[in-house]
Amino acid sequence: MLVSATEMLKKARDGHYAVGQFNINNLEWTKAVLLTAQELNSPVILGVSEGAGKYMTGYKTVAAMVKAMVETLNITVPVALHLDHGRNFESCKAAIAGGYTSVMIDGSSLPFEENIEITREVVKYAHERGVSVEAELGVLAGVEDHVFSAGSTYTNPLDAVEFIKKTKVDALAISYGTMHGANKGKGAKLRKEIAIATKECLLHEGIFCALVSHGSSTVPQYIVKEINDLGGDIQNAYGIELAQLKEAARCGIDVFRIFDSLNWVPGMEVA
Ligand code: CO
Repeated sequence: MLVSATEMLKKARDGHYAVGQFNINNLEWTKAVLLTAQELNSPVILGVSEGAGKYMTGYKTVAAMVKAMVETLNITVPVALHLDHGRNFESCKAAIAGGYTSVMIDGSSLPFEENIEITREVVKYAHERGVSVEAELGVLAGVEDHVFSAGSTYTNPLDAVEFIKKTKVDALAISYGTMHGANKGKGAKLRKEIAIATKECLLHEGIFCALVSHGSSTVPQYIVKEINDLGGDIQNAYGIELAQLKEAARCGIDVFRIFDSLNWVPGMEVA
């Protein structure tokens, strides 16, 4: 059975660990992620970008495939099926109708008040249907499907708290130094203070909201080498070091969104 991300994130908070979101693009990836989560007895969020959803012929197909696989493979760890970077309300609605148990509405490119407005609208709709919602505040550098941005504007913790209070969103992606894409810069430094400040303020308000770290792939160098040895051409591809992710988890990051640098397959039409 698929569940919303709410319960697993509260459990993660109580147990002092973070949950991984692994984006899927096809059957093989889905199977690998599910079996690994089961083997490690870990809850997991399966993320699907709009482009990946389209490639797999739509929300319904993805949800049906994931549900069937969870059942057939006897996956007993909590699994959430999550729309990654939903671009508008319609997209979120369609994902929920298709069977997703969690959605992201990415209004990070909108003015603050408009981002609040659209997020609030999606939260109301989704919560009535038992679906969890992630939003984004601040802008990440790098490339991800339709999300393009030249520079990086870190999230203001005070804005984050106001945003969370006004929208009642379950999870918030913050900008604190990670980047989308295969090159996150060699030795990227994370501004953990942003996560700490946001979490502290939320504690004082008595509010729980999971903080999400997008662009958190580790981009292991042996995989880059393997790809290049097989004729690939991946240059200057560096991820976030595992030690940094572990440190960030201790500083209040609840979800790591992994694999976004490999968020496509040949032939996939990226919307
Ligand atoms: Co992202």
